[in-house]
Amino acid sequence: MTKFRTLDDLGDVTGKVALVRVDLNLPMQDGAVTDDTRIRAALPTINELADKGAKVLLLAHFGRPKGARNSEQSLSMVVGAVSTVLGREVMFCPEIAGPVVAQTVGILRPGDVAILENTRFWPGEEKNDPELAKAIAANGDFYVNDAFSAAHRAHATTEGLAHLLPAYAGRSMQAELEALEKALGNPERPVAAVVGGAKVSSKLDVLTHLVSQVDHLIIGGGMANTFLAAKGVDVGKSLCEHELAGTVTEILAAADKSGCTVHLPYDVVVSKEFTANPPSLRTCNVHEVAADEMILDIGPAATEALADVLKTCRTLVWNGPLGAFELPPFDKATVALAKTAAALTREGSLISVAGGGDTVSALNHAAVAGDFSYVSTAGGAFLEWMEGRELPGVAVLELA
Ligand code: 3PG
Repeated sequence: MTKFRTLDDLGDVTGKVALVRVDLNLPMQDGAVTDDTRIRAALPTINELADKGAKVLLLAHFGRPKGARNSEQSLSMVVGAVSTVLGREVMFCPEIAGPVVAQTVGILRPGDVAILENTRFWPGEEKNDPELAKAIAANGDFYVNDAFSAAHRAHATTEGLAHLLPAYAGRSMQAELEALEKALGNPERPVAAVVGGAKVSSKLDVLTHLVSQVDHLIIGGGMANTFLAAKGVDVGKSLCEHELAGTVTEILAAADKSGCTVHLPYDVVVSKEFTANPPSLRTCNVHEVAADEMILDIGPAATEALADVLKTCRTLVWNGPLGAFELPPFDKATVALAKTAAALTREGSLISVAGGGDTVSALNHAAVAGDFSYVSTAGGAFLEWMEGRELPGVAVLELA
């Protein structure tokens, strides 16, 4: 595995200023944080540095303010939530560089924590402007990146700073990289990947990469319809990207060549309406979908067969739901397969790694997120990792 420095490599940091990149791009409603998962993810790093006597300056973005200040996206709004989760007082500094940050550093005592303003208020952040990075670095002694979920961005605070200061992976970044290495870097075989979600077009690179990496590729969600249609199945009114038939055929041929078995459902749950518990609900063979019906979930026979596939595997990577899981009963296949994966993980026969926004909600809905070996809170970064791409925020931490 590629090596990177972790907090274990830090010497005495008493009184030193740690610039710590975290992900505070938190879901908010009416000014309140509705899910503090990302704060909790950063907790071990912040507490460890504070307990070691560093002055901790948190750097983070919120939303996409496009390089200009606005009061709705100020990180001052999350100070209370961060302070509550940390169980420590947290200061706020309305700048990210310059004398105001220097003053804040002067006020902080060893072990104190401050949040700096939304880094994306400065246009240089997203441009990875070396001048901005230099100005931010001037107030710090070392840099810690604990935001894997923002590591697919080559920005001043996710990439640029690591060139200017001694750079370390935080505990959450470290855990994420170790889990991902186990899942696709150097996995125990056989490896299965579940890829679901609405559209093949949004996950083309993921699919293309995975067929050369995994032994079993399980396709679900609206994506499965596009695969079925490409194989000549009439999918009725189902969500389907018919124009991608050629691309899908190429992916299937590549899978065949590299010995990857692609699993598509052979029974499905269909309905004429896209509502919860619709009156026209029925289960049928994929070849029996009527012209006015939509496929909304994988059927019970296919789900059972997929569970049998997982039982033969040692590693699982999961991204995307298998059906329209937000509407009952189209959550059944996702819940059932997630429960199988969780049980196999508990028994110790499967390493299971899942990631992506919808995926985390689906696993929470199935009440099994805690049983997976690792659940990544990253969205875009997790997908880019599944595409086999190098993440700039990770690459810069790696030691030659
Ligand atoms: C996320 O929420 O996935 C990360 O914080 C990255 O945000 P971005 O897509 O706006 O770069």
